[in-house]
Amino acid sequence: MKSKASAPGKVILFGEHFVVYGVKAILCAIDKRITVSAEKTKERKISIISNIGKLELEKNTSLSEINSPLKPFYFLANKIIKNHDTGIEIIVESDIPLGVGLGSSSACCVAGAAAISRLFSNTTKEEILKLAIEAEKTIFQNTSGADCTVCTYGGIMEYDKENGFTTIESQPNFHLVIANSNIEHSTKVVVAGVKEFKEKNEIEFTTLCNNESKLVDEVLKEIKENNIKEIGNRVTQNQEYLEKIGISNDKLRDMIKIGKNGSFGAKITGAGGGGCIFALTDESNLEKTIKQFKEKNYDCFSAKIDFRGLDTF
Ligand code: PMV
Repeated sequence: MKSKASAPGKVILFGEHFVVYGVKAILCAIDKRITVSAEKTKERKISIISNIGKLELEKNTSLSEINSPLKPFYFLANKIIKNHDTGIEIIVESDIPLGVGLGSSSACCVAGAAAISRLFSNTTKEEILKLAIEAEKTIFQNTSGADCTVCTYGGIMEYDKENGFTTIESQPNFHLVIANSNIEHSTKVVVAGVKEFKEKNEIEFTTLCNNESKLVDEVLKEIKENNIKEIGNRVTQNQEYLEKIGISNDKLRDMIKIGKNGSFGAKITGAGGGGCIFALTDESNLEKTIKQFKEKNYDCFSAKIDFRGLDTF
C-alpha cells in the first residue's frame, strides 16, 4: 500500500521581522507544492529519496548523528514506524524552490507527516500539524509553527505572538510574481542583525513597529474589499520599513525596482538578506511583470493563493 500527500509552500505577505516583536504578520499559502509518497518495505530501513539527495538509515539511529536537510523525514518515519515490524521508503517531489523562504521545509514536514502517518491510521489535520511542527524543530528549534500552519490549512492567515493564528476568510484574487535572488541566507543570522539594529535604534525601531502595525490593520481591511491596488501600495510601503532595518541589499533592491515597475508593489518576503521578493499583480499586469524580470535574467514564477492546503490521496 502506498500513501501520498502534498502541501503548499508559503510567502509572508506582510510583517516579517516585526512579528518577532509582537506585530501581526499576514501569510499565505502558494499554489506550488511538495508531494511525498510513503510505502512500507520488507527491509527494515528508513529510506528517503529526493531531488536533493538520498538518505538511508537503520531504525532508531540517533538524530544527533544525522546532518542532512532530510532529517525531519527520518524523524517522522522513525517516530511513526518504531513499534511496527516494517521499513519505509519515502519519495519527495518538489515544485517549490528550496531554502529561499518559500516554506519548502514546512511543506515537507506537513506532507511527510501526512503521507507516513496515514500508512498506519486516519490521522486528522490537527494531529498532522502537531507532528509536522515537531519534525521542523529537528532543524529549526525556534520555529513559531506559522509556516507549518499555513501549509496545512492553506489560504491567508494573520498571526501574532499573543493570539496565534486566525484564518482570513476573504479570497482576494491577486497573483504574485515571485523572483529568487539565488542568494543563500540564514534566517537566524538576519534576525540577529535586526535585533542589533533594534538595540542601537530603540526609538526608531518602536516607531517602525507602530507603523507596521497600522499598515497591517489597513491591509486586513483592503483584503476584505479585494482592493488589490491599495494592497500593492502597502506592499511598497512595507518594503521601505524593511529597508530601514537593514535586511535588503543591492540585488534585492534591483529586483524590487524591476518588480515595482510592472506591478502594484513589490517587497522582500521572509527573512531577506537573500531569498525571494514578490511583486503583487492581477491579470492586467502579470505578464508584463514576468517579462521584465526575465529580460534582466532573474529567476521568477507566478503563484496564486492556495486554498487547498494539505491534500492526501
Ligand atoms: O524566511 P522565512 O520564511 O523563514 O521567514 C522568517 C520570518 C522572520 O519574521 C524574519 C522570522 C520569524 O521567526 O518570524
